[in-house]
Amino acid sequence: MPLGERRRRASTVRGVSRLRTERLELRPLVPSDFAQWNEVRERCRVWLSKWEPRPPASAPDPSRDPQAFSNRCRMRERERSLGTAFDFGLWHEGWFCGEINISHVARGAFQSAHVGYWIDERLAGRGLVAEGLMAVFEFAFSQVGLHRVQISIMPRNSASLRVVDKLGLRSEGTAQGYIQIAGVWEDHVRFGITLEEWNARRDEMAARLRDARNHGVTQSSASDSHA
Ligand SMILES: CC(C)(COP(=O)(O)OP(=O)(O)OC[C@H]1O[C@@H](n2cnc3c(N)ncnc32)[C@H](O)[C@@H]1OP(=O)(O)O)[C@@H](O)C(=O)NCCC(=O)NCCS
Repeated sequence: MPLGERRRRASTVRGVSRLRTERLELRPLVPSDFAQWNEVRERCRVWLSKWEPRPPASAPDPSRDPQAFSNRCRMRERERSLGTAFDFGLWHEGWFCGEINISHVARGAFQSAHVGYWIDERLAGRGLVAEGLMAVFEFAFSQVGLHRVQISIMPRNSASLRVVDKLGLRSEGTAQGYIQIAGVWEDHVRFGITLEEWNARRDEMAARLRDARNHGVTQSSASDSHA
């Protein structure tokens, strides 16, 4: 993509604030979201902390401190305006329920970024993150103008591995001691998707998700009927 076109898209991206899927609304968090953020992050603290980097001990906790949360929102806004990261809170039926974030955007010859995610424990198992990822991939490739995005997962995080499996993402192997999670340098399996793969596969990926969801519905209906 020519540089002029990239610049034009980058300025459009700053104005983009909302994405929608069948069951989700995705938009950046703002300071007035603190009450919902605080409720979900506090309730899910144990569920999330084993999969996340440990926050610096000396820094105020954005999950508990409204000022720290406002600062986090402001920092994310600045990253968006610089084009270095794009954050999306997830809303399902009007309730905040998680995040999917594009980070570490590298330009030049890379045109690449990382994608990370989490969801409210109460809404786990409904295929919502994979559904949100489809919208974020579309945004990353068509709006941000990236050529590649990467998701990194600890080998023992079977729920997260299932998300990329549902989408049929390509494994690029294991990076040793890749990210410090809960204070420990952990190996991560890296999954990548390029613009070419996205263009070739997005309809098939959407169909895979529909199949996984229908299968899940069938399974839960079957187990309901045995209850
Ligand atoms: C990983 C995670 C984002 C998956 O999101 P999700 O929207 O629940 O994903 P899915 O609905 O597709 O479920 C994926 C798998 O999780 C497992 N799962 C389902 N419900 C679950 C629950 N209540 N608790 C734990 N795991 C569950 C199932 O194995 C499911 O596979 P299946 O649909 O074939 O049964 C979510 O589990 C999470 O936020 N975990 C904590 C943070 C984290 O691990 N982030 C990712 C770091 S790489």
